[in-house]
Amino acid sequence: EDAKLIVLEQNPTLQQATKIKIREAVANRGRRVKVSGWVHRLRTQGKDMKFAILRDGSGYLQCVLTGKLCHTYDALTLSLESTITIYGVISELPQGKTAPDNHELSADYWEVIHKAPGGDDAFTNKLNAEADPSVLYEQRHLVIRGESSSSVLRVRSQIMKAFREYFDSKGFTEVNPPCLVQTQVEGGGTLFDLNYYGEKAYLSQSSQLYLETCLPSLGDVYSCSESYRAERSHTRRHLSEYSHLEAEMAFITFDELLNTIEELVCHTVDRVLSHEPTRDLVYQLVPDFKPPQRPFMRLDYKDAIKYLKEHDIKKEDGTFYEFGEDIPEAPERAMTDKIGCPIFLCRFPVEIKSFYMKRCSKDPRVTESVDMLMPGVGEIVGGSMRISDLDELLAGYKREGINPAPYYWYTDQRKYGTTEHGGFGLGVERFIAWMLHRDTVKECCLYPRFMGRCLP
Ligand code: 4AD
Repeated sequence: EDAKLIVLEQNPTLQQATKIKIREAVANRGRRVKVSGWVHRLRTQGKDMKFAILRDGSGYLQCVLTGKLCHTYDALTLSLESTITIYGVISELPQGKTAPDNHELSADYWEVIHKAPGGDDAFTNKLNAEADPSVLYEQRHLVIRGESSSSVLRVRSQIMKAFREYFDSKGFTEVNPPCLVQTQVEGGGTLFDLNYYGEKAYLSQSSQLYLETCLPSLGDVYSCSESYRAERSHTRRHLSEYSHLEAEMAFITFDELLNTIEELVCHTVDRVLSHEPTRDLVYQLVPDFKPPQRPFMRLDYKDAIKYLKEHDIKKEDGTFYEFGEDIPEAPERAMTDKIGCPIFLCRFPVEIKSFYMKRCSKDPRVTESVDMLMPGVGEIVGGSMRISDLDELLAGYKREGINPAPYYWYTDQRKYGTTEHGGFGLGVERFIAWMLHRDTVKECCLYPRFMGRCLP
């Protein structure tokens, strides 16, 4: 027995300890546990006490090293972002002290797994964005270890889950359309082209045309794929690669399309807020977050043109926007922020929209199209009813100067049992930028791609 005790004292790792993730810490208070993670913060108090906040991706845990545990070489040279394993007992903090989850682990043993560099190469010296803000993108692999970046990514994961849940609850089937394509959807200006075994091909701008072909096969469908746009300007809401949530429905009206978009957005916000750990993250990032109110405002393009005039929102040359002109990002944002709530901007003129959009029967100058605009970001969703008539579609190709040959499969939809149908695409990063009040969509994806950056 004595010999056993001596062995245990010399090697406390042999004592019984439950291996836990930090998210399980509350449930394991009072028991000896083993936790591994990265040193997130470090504070020394006198000679005999060190506080380390440990991070393992599932949470944060304050750990206290006392007495001889602080005197070892490893303790004296411990640096941020080192990986360590700590053994000890977690107990609730007395009143007046604060730490994550209001408890801390008193270590009885700990060991270094790998020590991160100190000095010039120290973690904190890698992220000096004051000198050059592009450091934050260059060092994105380190930035995502931070609290707010990782919170955004964590909420993003729940948002994706909520989107899928909505579509599943409505009986949609998820499909995975190709990203290597030979057709355009949203205009030639933003196509990335590539050499496909000697043939010209593009990176997909939108899965819409493929989703349309799924309707007769699977009924209502959705997809979440990467879309690619060769955007040549730096804005807060444009990426070269973005996550595109798209859906397509058959036998619907334009009003039903709008209602679906509204329901998807509101369901997703509700779902995310009903998951407690995620709700906490949302309110940490946006203390005054308010879910949008239904119904969303419906505003026709022609009335938006009037609105811009009435509110003195002009073009750079000092003249007003006229019917038929595209409303660019700046005036659209100015109007959206003034109105201050979600807007369905509807019925854009044929000439400024894509070849596939259906005209309104009451006013053939305009299409059954919609952009959902949100305060702070602007357009988050673009959708429309699609042309169902073969001749009208052929005229659409012609108007936009598109060679119909590679679109034979899309055209076939109007030959083999056509119907009224419509759908939409939602920019996931824009949705996140809106919901989490981020300055730019670049903070809302793992590794943003934009002109001039394709690393890390
Ligand atoms: O309005 P867009 O171009 O519409 C389409 O692609 C349709 N074919 C979708 C459909 O009906 N299935 O793009 C849809 C959404 C935009 O509202 C915006 O949120 C996002 O995609 N988006 C971008 N997000 C980030 N960076 C870019 N460069 C984006 N371009 C569009």
